[in-house]
Amino acid sequence: MKEESVIGNFSLMDDKTIDNTIRPETIDEYIGQTDVKENIRVFVDAAKMRKESLDHVLLYGPPGLGKTTLAFIIAHELGTNIKTASGPSIEKSGDLAAILSSLEPGDVLFIDEIHRMPRYIEEILYPAMEDFSLDIIVGSEGNSRNIKIDLPPFTLVGATTRAGDLSSPLRDRFGIISKLQFYTVEELRDIIKRTSRVLEMPIAEDAALELAKRSRGTPRVANRLFKRVRDFAMVKKSKEITLDITNEALERLKVDKIGLDSTDRELLLAIINRFNGGPVGIEALSSSIGEEVTTIEDVYEPYLLQIGLLKRTARGRVVTDAAYELLGIEKRK
Ligand SMILES: Nc1ncnc2c1ncn2[C@@H]1O[C@H](COP(=O)(O)OP(=O)(O)O)[C@@H](O)[C@H]1O
Ligand SMILES: [Mg+2]
Repeated sequence: MKEESVIGNFSLMDDKTIDNTIRPETIDEYIGQTDVKENIRVFVDAAKMRKESLDHVLLYGPPGLGKTTLAFIIAHELGTNIKTASGPSIEKSGDLAAILSSLEPGDVLFIDEIHRMPRYIEEILYPAMEDFSLDIIVGSEGNSRNIKIDLPPFTLVGATTRAGDLSSPLRDRFGIISKLQFYTVEELRDIIKRTSRVLEMPIAEDAALELAKRSRGTPRVANRLFKRVRDFAMVKKSKEITLDITNEALERLKVDKIGLDSTDRELLLAIINRFNGGPVGIEALSSSIGEEVTTIEDVYEPYLLQIGLLKRTARGRVVTDAAYELLGIEKRK
């Protein structure tokens, strides 16, 4: 999603520092995702009791729902170190071999966007995940040989926005597979109140609830909106974020009553106006609104599907009657 700031950033900390400050560190501070959290709690406790490494964990779901945060929390709860890498950044098998051989017993290896790891590199992971062994070829052509190196037991935590893009041999090697869900308004309100405490900028109860309703079910969006609304409050020299300030700021940021931003609306309007409500194929939609197919699929669509404004059919995307109603457009027969 696009970052937008209409009045600049007046805070003393930059956004990245803020993000690290407001990220929960323990499982108790992690709000919502009750099922996922409870499972992880049990598996972590059991692994600790057995003095074994935790089974490999795959976390999937749309961006901003807390996958990276949860990976760090898992390491924190295990009391181990975490090493991080991202799928597209591992280009050579040697890169992965180097990361794997630097692990210490019990460590967590977090691979973000694991679906974007090249297949030939993925294959190195199979024996590493299964037997904690690294099979590599050393030497030059004509004079090469296979060697097997033992690795310490470790836990791979993989994160992906598209579990369907993972090869099945890789997916099958994860013992724990958890899907993160969109958050409820109440959960988002609690996340906003927590952020407000951490950043020491009070927010009125009704303002927190309003922000929560307009956060697309997503903690990252909630925190980003909180920061922008906080900028407005600071400029207005208000000691608290009020409902009035919240409404005004969100209007200026073009976030509507149910949290849709301009791209969401553009997407729905394009289907209605240019494709007569659909069905329309994702490629045609993509060129029509000038957003990448993957951005539409990973960032925009999941929430629109979730709240019932969009439907996916075998012949393409279709907007629902609710979308016409929301946008105040009469449906053509
Ligand atoms: N369950 C949660 N409770 C509180 N804050 C959360 C939670 N999940 C995510 N966040 C906040 O939202 C931000 C985005 O989460 P992140 O883990 O980066 O998402 P993802 O990796 O799924 O894209 C984090 O910086 C964190 O502050
Ligand atoms: Mg992440």
